[in-house]
Amino acid sequence: MTLHSFLAPFALWITLFTLTSTSTSQSITDPASLVNLFIGTTNGGHVFPGATLPHGMVKVGMDTDSPENHAGYDAEPYYHATGFSQLHDSGTGGAVPLSLFKLWPFASCSSFEKCPTSIDSRKVLRKILKNGERSPDDFASPGYFSSNLSTSIRVELTATRRTALHRYTFPASSKTPRIAVDITNDGQMSSTDPIGYLDPNTSRVMGGASFAASFGPGRYRAYTCVDFKGDGYHLGKPTEYGVWLADYPVKESTNINQVYFGFVDQLGTLLTFAPNPDRNKPTSILARVGVSFISPEQACSNAESEIPDFNFEGTQASARAQWNELLGRVQVGTKGVDKEVVELFYSSLYRTHISPADYTGENPLWNSTEPYYDSLYCNWDTYRTLYPLMSLHDPVNFARIVRGMINIQKNEGWLPECRGATQQHYIQGGSNADPILGEFFVKFHDQVNALNVSATDLYNALLADAEKQPPNWNLQGRQANAWKKYNYIPQDLYDAGGASSKQVSRTLEHAFGDFAISQVAKLLGNDADSVKYAQRAGNFANVWNPTVTVPGGPGVLGMMQPRFINGTFGFTDPRHCSIHDPTMATCYLNAANRDGFYESSPIVVSISYVPQDTAKLIELQGGNEKFISRLDFVFDQNYFDSTDEPSQQIPFMYHYGNRPGLSTQRSRQVIAQYFNTSIRGLPGNDVIYFLPYVKSSGAMGSYAAFYLAGMYPLPATGQFLLSSPYFPRIAFFNPIFNKTTTIIANGFKGNPANGTGGSVFVKSVKIDGLPWKSNCYLDWDTFRNGSTVELELTDDIGVACGEAPDALPPSLSTGGF
Ligand SMILES: *[C@@H]1O[C@H](CO)[C@@H](O)[C@H](O)[C@H]1NC(C)=O
Ligand SMILES: *[C@@H]1O[C@H](CO)[C@@H](O)[C@H](O)[C@H]1NC(C)=O
Ligand SMILES: *[C@@H]1O[C@H](CO)[C@@H](O)[C@H](O)[C@H]1NC(C)=O
Ligand SMILES: *[C@@H]1O[C@H](CO)[C@@H](O)[C@H](O)[C@H]1NC(C)=O
Ligand SMILES: *[C@@H]1O[C@H](CO)[C@@H](O)[C@H](O)[C@H]1NC(C)=O
Ligand SMILES: *[C@@H]1O[C@H](CO)[C@@H](O)[C@H](O)[C@H]1NC(C)=O
Ligand SMILES: *[C@@H]1O[C@H](CO)[C@@H](O)[C@H](O)[C@H]1NC(C)=O
Ligand SMILES: *[C@@H]1O[C@H](CO)[C@@H](O)[C@H](O)[C@H]1NC(C)=O
Ligand SMILES: *[C@@H]1O[C@H](CO)[C@@H](O)[C@H](O)[C@H]1NC(C)=O
Repeated sequence: MTLHSFLAPFALWITLFTLTSTSTSQSITDPASLVNLFIGTTNGGHVFPGATLPHGMVKVGMDTDSPENHAGYDAEPYYHATGFSQLHDSGTGGAVPLSLFKLWPFASCSSFEKCPTSIDSRKVLRKILKNGERSPDDFASPGYFSSNLSTSIRVELTATRRTALHRYTFPASSKTPRIAVDITNDGQMSSTDPIGYLDPNTSRVMGGASFAASFGPGRYRAYTCVDFKGDGYHLGKPTEYGVWLADYPVKESTNINQVYFGFVDQLGTLLTFAPNPDRNKPTSILARVGVSFISPEQACSNAESEIPDFNFEGTQASARAQWNELLGRVQVGTKGVDKEVVELFYSSLYRTHISPADYTGENPLWNSTEPYYDSLYCNWDTYRTLYPLMSLHDPVNFARIVRGMINIQKNEGWLPECRGATQQHYIQGGSNADPILGEFFVKFHDQVNALNVSATDLYNALLADAEKQPPNWNLQGRQANAWKKYNYIPQDLYDAGGASSKQVSRTLEHAFGDFAISQVAKLLGNDADSVKYAQRAGNFANVWNPTVTVPGGPGVLGMMQPRFINGTFGFTDPRHCSIHDPTMATCYLNAANRDGFYESSPIVVSISYVPQDTAKLIELQGGNEKFISRLDFVFDQNYFDSTDEPSQQIPFMYHYGNRPGLSTQRSRQVIAQYFNTSIRGLPGNDVIYFLPYVKSSGAMGSYAAFYLAGMYPLPATGQFLLSSPYFPRIAFFNPIFNKTTTIIANGFKGNPANGTGGSVFVKSVKIDGLPWKSNCYLDWDTFRNGSTVELELTDDIGVACGEAPDALPPSLSTGGF
């Protein structure tokens, strides 16, 4: 997609808009300037604020000595900087991922041999801004990061897909600028089998090691290749060089073999350079850092081909242009909208495009010309909102990710669930590539050829998940045999191949996975399969125990519950794993999980976890009134957990009870209460009291972006639940259709600060000038057509979905999708 072809439809759109509207509309040409990269970068947010391309492999950033440095960085000024490493993830839990190959500048050491190279000895504070908030002197924008260290060294970072470019500007006082390459310190001190050597003639450093995965049992090898260049002057050979081990640099050694005896896990190289000969100019040294999962040689060739000229400004400008092109596909009107809301929106959209990361060419496990995407961390987190958001404006990357997943299935037998650093990670619930492939196919079945996706391979990959039990369904695939035999996952089945846990959650997720497959089968004209999988999608009802009540919830009757092989029910307190759990249990992977639920309480999953058939859920709960009052109970008693994906849909569930105004208000209250643009602006572990555990920041980002856009998607269907956007208009340009869809909020009067009340409720909807059947959902057709959607807003929260027979959003049991 060139900038030109993206701008063309916008020019047209602006013309049309100014013809039909009196208000002026200007497109946002530099959305990168609206992205705040520091949101959620402390307090367990684990958000990565460094430099990367959209879905780039290299994510170069500062590492700090904060306890929760999963993404390296922490915005609190009292943490020290410890290095500038090339690879990170954003917003993940597990152990610290990647954080590999840290570079470190020394302004002065008393001598080469006395340079404190180990991570604890070298670390320093950052400079502090005198802004009253004691913020560190750090800056970040898409594709760029900079910081001023207390040693008066200025650090700047930018990136291409597999290469980082660093610039270290030393203070004028620095007579012996030095840069260390740290080969072995990942975030976990897990390295084994290191290699590392330097060439004193060229200053090239090559190295690598084996490291532990973050959330799975595997290990992986990674490699780096570092070259140096003076910025605006000839750097010359290093004046001193050597490898180091812990705090001991050994002058004139060139290979870590010369010093490594197998019991130290801190190893690297140290180079001293002459300062800029022109003493009126700063000593700025560029370090180009290639990375590869294949070999050190490939790390060098990646760097040479991606940044041949060490052009920092050019690399930075190119990264920013790529971000602007992508983010600019979504345009919002800003009149009457707080700047913070606009910032929150583009920052959330930005975080949607950090992971998965494009590791094409870097898969060490098999050779293939297909794309290879990694950092699928985890599909459980991202299938709900991240991919549906990509459907709206980024089908080409989405298609490449899908091709990568299909290729993994062809080579490993099953679709990936969670994956990082080329290794399988632990699955959370079901096999959630199923709804992702379903989402792709429902949206783009007519474009599969243009997008180079094989429909046959896609369907076969889904069938493998649905029908074939893998040897270890803790890592990929499903507990397929039990699912097929019992139509639920029994609580007392000790099935070889995985932990006997999370049975209720898995039952619900396998049902939704089968729904996604039935959607694909239907579009392929395979009616028999479509019916078969739609039936299996109804299996969620098999774990509904109609007799369960909950303390403090009069009228709440019936819950999802564990069920035994003999058909009788076990019992899990509905409050289990909620913030009102009397036993304060956890429902994470590290717990011996015997209650049947994963990362959510029975209360939460019993109201939200059946997107394919909410109508049936309402029936099970005793009808509309009971359903609405159960939703109110969930919010009023604080069972809603914004930090946890199973809760994400709950604020929008009132739509199904024909009370869309309540959805609008609840979802706006969630944004007001839990999201802002501060460094603590993501709901993090302060809300989950039982275990610091963080979500893929792309999952949180895309969820916030949808709420702000006034929609909530139903993955693997054509429907988007509809509310009102936070903007007078929002437009999505979809490059595969070459069409822009615009949602206009007529009567927009701004957003209530606390999310309560306001003129924000949707009274009626017109599409391309004609009345639309529902105030509660939009169809994918609208986005495929590139329509104009006009919403009429009111301050009456009592609005309804409409009079038409299909005004309520669809459900399987009321006729389907
Ligand atoms: C995209 O649409 C615009 C007008 O909406 C048109 O000018 C342009 O040629 C189209 N581009 C392609 C590649 O079809
Ligand atoms: C660091 O110092 C430089 C030079 O004094 C200044 O221009 C820059 O704004 C400071 N901050 C950052 C984050 O680079
Ligand atoms: C560096 O250059 C010198 C002189 O040309 C040469 O003797 C030496 O072998 C070179 N060292 C390496 C590691 O290539
Ligand atoms: C991929 O192909 C290269 C070149 O033929 C070969 O060296 C390498 O071993 C292959 N990798 C795998 C995992 O098969
Ligand atoms: C599809 O494949 C063709 C041929 O390899 C290539 O030219 C084209 O760019 C690809 N399209 C996409 C969207 O990946
Ligand atoms: C059903 O199985 C459970 C668990 O094995 C057992 O505790 C219960 O007594 C059984 N009930 C009947 C009616 O067989
Ligand atoms: C931003 O949100 C966080 C997390 O919900 C909260 O702790 C913080 O007080 C909020 N800050 C502002 C300025 O609203
Ligand atoms: C929200 O703000 C409005 C207007 O400032 C105020 O009247 C109302 O009481 C607030 N509601 C809540 C729940 O804080
Ligand atoms: C999309 O366009 C088609 C063909 O022009 C039309 O029949 C259909 O009603 C449109 N759908 C929507 C949702 O606008």
